[in-house]
Amino acid sequence: MSLIITIDGPSASGKTSVARRVAAALGVPFVSSGLLYRGIAYQVLRYHTSPTDARAVLDLLRAHPVRLEPRPEGNRVLANGEDVTAQLHTSAVDAVVSTVARHPEVRAYVKARLAELEPPFVVEGRDMGSAVFPGARFKFYLTASPRVRAQRRARERGEDVAAIEAALRARDEADKAQSQPAPDAVWIDTSAMDLEEVVRAVLERVRT
Ligand code: ADP
Ligand code: CDP
Repeated sequence: MSLIITIDGPSASGKTSVARRVAAALGVPFVSSGLLYRGIAYQVLRYHTSPTDARAVLDLLRAHPVRLEPRPEGNRVLANGEDVTAQLHTSAVDAVVSTVARHPEVRAYVKARLAELEPPFVVEGRDMGSAVFPGARFKFYLTASPRVRAQRRARERGEDVAAIEAALRARDEADKAQSQPAPDAVWIDTSAMDLEEVVRAVLERVRT
């Protein structure tokens, strides 16, 4: 198999930033699976579909497909062919995405979209190393304490840390079923590391 590196972990553990930098250092694309789930959640909100109704969500995706375009400067999500990437990191999408992502049919849809991509790439998500690319050559699982992760998100969004931490813990809980680390993943607790240190730790293992 051509090179696939998986980087999984909970919200704001650093998956996206680390995957992007590692991919850039290796000169390969990076792929953000969470954006696909966010794109689907966005369509659910846009078309007033029930997030708990798997069949309705699947019908929606058949009528209004969501596609991921991995690009080095940042992945793009196209819904009905329209770029909706800028609308995907909102509290409204955060609130519904775990419910939408829980359906096996939705997970199969995302898996099929990811399987269409040609390696090499660095891919980040919740279950990339365990469920989607179990044969990947290198697998990482990033963690950090809920407080540290909330502080990171608060800096990005300019919102209150305590409120973000509560929402983040709720999403951790809601995502539990779909967030299995691969048994052969290397764990990195990033709580006391800066971004560059995490990137270096990943690259050291990939390059040796
Ligand atoms: P995820 O994709 O896991 O949700 P992100 O990559 O979006 O996480 O990171 C969330 C925020 O935290 C970003 O603003 C990012 O720059 C910052 N960040 C990520 N890793 C670290 C780190 N090790 N130290 C400090 N800030 C970090
Ligand atoms: O960046 P953050 O970790 O907050 O979220 P994300 O990676 O964009 O993922 C958004 C949501 O999609 C998660 O909360 C999960 O519900 C879902 N997801 C998933 O179920 N499986 C994945 N591989 C990636 C994301």
